[in-house]
Amino acid sequence: MRGVTMSEQPSIATIFPASLNAIPAQYRFAMPLCQTGYLIAGEIRHWAGPMQEVRSPVCLMDGEQPLPVVLGTVPLLSSDEALAALDAAVAAWDCGRGSWPTMTVAERIRHLEQFAWRMKEQRELVVKLLMWEIGKILPDAEKEFDRTVQYIIDTIDALKELDRAASRFTVEEGVIAQIRRAPLGVVLCMGPYNYPLNETFTTLIPALIMGNTVVFKPAKLGVLLLSPLLEAFRDCFPPGVVNTVYGDGSTVVGPLMQSGKVDCLAFIGSSRVADSLKQQHPKPHRLRSVLGLGAKNPAIILPDAELELTVNECLLGSLSFNGQRCTALKIIFVHEKIADDFLKRFVEAVDGLQPGLPWEAGVKITPLPVPGKPQQMADWIADACEKGARVLNQGGGSVHGTYCHPAVVYPVAPGSELYEHEQFGPVVPVVPYTDINEVISYIRDSCYGQQASIFGSDPQQLAELIDPLVHQVCRVNLNCQCQRGPDSFPFAGRKDSAEGTLSVSDALRVFSIRTLVAAKDQPVNKTILTDIVRNRRSSFLTTDFIF
Ligand code: G3H
Repeated sequence: MRGVTMSEQPSIATIFPASLNAIPAQYRFAMPLCQTGYLIAGEIRHWAGPMQEVRSPVCLMDGEQPLPVVLGTVPLLSSDEALAALDAAVAAWDCGRGSWPTMTVAERIRHLEQFAWRMKEQRELVVKLLMWEIGKILPDAEKEFDRTVQYIIDTIDALKELDRAASRFTVEEGVIAQIRRAPLGVVLCMGPYNYPLNETFTTLIPALIMGNTVVFKPAKLGVLLLSPLLEAFRDCFPPGVVNTVYGDGSTVVGPLMQSGKVDCLAFIGSSRVADSLKQQHPKPHRLRSVLGLGAKNPAIILPDAELELTVNECLLGSLSFNGQRCTALKIIFVHEKIADDFLKRFVEAVDGLQPGLPWEAGVKITPLPVPGKPQQMADWIADACEKGARVLNQGGGSVHGTYCHPAVVYPVAPGSELYEHEQFGPVVPVVPYTDINEVISYIRDSCYGQQASIFGSDPQQLAELIDPLVHQVCRVNLNCQCQRGPDSFPFAGRKDSAEGTLSVSDALRVFSIRTLVAAKDQPVNKTILTDIVRNRRSSFLTTDFIF
């Protein structure tokens, strides 16, 4: 590899075992897991056509060669099955007259509660599959599962709040009205591979609970881990309310968008794919989009930053889950006065990260699930080195099969891939600066606008930085890494980073639209409205209070 320091870390060469027997029994499962089922119209159908092999980032050594473990197979559906799933969702929506969209909020909540119970029964297998399919370390896989269950519980609570506030009539300027949030229709949900459970469900659950019907397609990676939940979806929702499609995106998703029957696209992934999906919809004003896209969140280290805290937060921010978080710190700007001290400590901290397999105690860095990603990281490091940077840590950027050792690259120059683009991997580009305006210009000119982290002690200097940054990104983190949580906080982005805001309560809003029934304040109308409410003739016009 051109220009890259390639000192091999001894632990990297021994990261993969030679046989599955070397992996503790409690972390194994019956392989291969061949999922043929897909859910359409309340029925789990079985696919007999072409299948896609699911490969793990975890390899076994075949002599000198690390080879990915084959975990199982998933269906490669054709466009016919995808369109059947869409038709089932359209039928369950039934122009808003289906049983699900017209169900009372209290009843819909009961379905979601039942689903959460059924989901909890699958925790062990889903957590294992998160480790095997995408290489997420055990504590983070458990956290992803538990956070998702909690998200469902919090969503139910938020909907109760929303519904209580809407359970009344208002009278303004001689008009009586009841204003509620109504569902949009058919939602296509597509999640990302790095949070295949959590981020998929942070759109799927609010979309469902608001009364929409859903077609969901898992991400390219992290597909098998949703299979233990298929029966729970079938049993907990009326037929056609949840439908699943699997397979190649252009084969199964293109026709869904081209049909013009999708009312809302909920997609977490790249802006390139999001743009292409949106463009295929023939009725752009019918389509609402809820998008979580790319980011290049910067850390800005001021000369008076407290170094221990800064190093810890930058380490977590840049290398948790190998840097594969949309919220990861993807470039670090450090003031030249403090650069040497920061880099010395940061490199020590990176050297202390233990590489290994996801279930091994203390492991922080694991193999990467995206085919070709280690080589891409190595190429981007080489590119930065050709433009004047160096890899500062021992073995940084070394590749062994699916594993890429984290690299601290400094000083990364404008024009390098690592400076300009989102790496989404275990490489940390660091850039020195003398004038803070250089950093502000970088953020202003970036096509992204999700979050930034600033590290410093002087309130005046911090305030002077906060004010311009809040107009460029949607969250400024003070002496702290970037992150999505707590899930009750708004999660949004400017420019190419997002469309719509996702927090527990905001998500209920994005998957619904304010709708009202209004009448002139006249005796005849009062009589009609009173009759409808007293005799419970409508699930929209109601003053029921959900406890
Ligand atoms: O990949 C993007 C996720 O939304 C990040 O969430 O900050 O909780 O890791 P997180």
